Amino acid sequence: MKKSLGLVFQDIFNSYPEVFSSAPGRINIIGEHTDYNLGYVLPAAIDLRSCFFLSRRSDKKVYLWAENFKKKDTFSLQKICYSEQNKWVNYVKGVFWALEEEGFNLQGINGLVWGDIPLEAGLSSSAALEVSIVQGLNTLFKLDLEPKRMAEIARRAENDFVGVKCGLMDQFISIFGQKNKALFLDCEILKYQLIPLDLEKAGLQILVFDSGVRRELSSSEYNKRCLESSRALELLKKYGIYSYKDATLSVLEERKDKINKVLLKRARHVISENNRVKKAVEAIKKSDFLMLGQLISQSHKSLRDNYEVSCPELDLLYDSAQEFSGCLGARLTGAGFGGSGIALIKKEKSDAFKNILLKEAGKRGFVRPGFYEVNIREGARANFLNKEGKE
Ligand code: GLA
Repeated sequence: MKKSLGLVFQDIFNSYPEVFSSAPGRINIIGEHTDYNLGYVLPAAIDLRSCFFLSRRSDKKVYLWAENFKKKDTFSLQKICYSEQNKWVNYVKGVFWALEEEGFNLQGINGLVWGDIPLEAGLSSSAALEVSIVQGLNTLFKLDLEPKRMAEIARRAENDFVGVKCGLMDQFISIFGQKNKALFLDCEILKYQLIPLDLEKAGLQILVFDSGVRRELSSSEYNKRCLESSRALELLKKYGIYSYKDATLSVLEERKDKINKVLLKRARHVISENNRVKKAVEAIKKSDFLMLGQLISQSHKSLRDNYEVSCPELDLLYDSAQEFSGCLGARLTGAGFGGSGIALIKKEKSDAFKNILLKEAGKRGFVRPGFYEVNIREGARANFLNKEGKE
């Protein structure tokens, strides 16, 4: 695929690309809506990626070609404005904007983007695009950025240019992911540990269930959850709870009559989810996949009832998993409100489970779901190409 993309680049720009970069999407095994609450997450990078070919220009213009949409876009680095027509281009613009804000004075480029991560499916296609852009620019212009800084720049693009107040999880895993390893990240101090997770060896698989539901609402609902959980923490400070990571459920429950019911539920989710992440890490280290599956399912229940970010289509995945003996656990992954879920399942039972989900979705009149059997793979990379645009 990559070779033919290089040829497309030559057709469009009449020159060879100088650098190729790529960055993966992710599944989050557990630890949902905990990143911006400075808690724990446990994502893994997957074998669906965003790819970027680029070469420098001598002016301050950026010429882009999006191979997925067969669309072009052009902008000047002297004035980077949000585009209402081409939403995809804002992730690219956002990275240039963030780099300029951080004091880099960049030249223009010709660039081609392509990816196989389904869009708006909760598999982090936007973070992968941002990370592939910052990696590519870092290599081409020899910016010498540390990987953590690249993750932060990519997040800044999304927070302050695109306008979604996301945490750092997606950009971080897209950079630091490794083959057959989950990444246990403390989002407060940004320390991480890579935890070996060879599912194939255990006869297991992560099945991604794409509900097909895409909600325009999701970014505003997402920002609302960020506000609610930070308000809840503000209230808890009165009772000596200064961080979700240090809070216990019993301390919260003792004060439950004094806290607004909605905020109480949000805090209940974040505190319990942090505990589940720590337990999940222990379970993986002991190869206790039954326990891992249970924690995954408990996470969904809390996201549904406490954080209220599920939807009937994703609940169908969860409900079906409870009744299907080859499935160890299932939950929504990513922000929720639609998008995807994951199921931890015995490999040989995967097809039977898919059929059940298809049938049940049909019975309920839901959109036909999609499925991806993903593998855990390495994070972003970038390298110079030779004079003919090849590796
Ligand atoms: C989205 C955001 C992440 C994280 C998840 C929810 O994927 O980009 O930062 O908050 O939602 O866990």
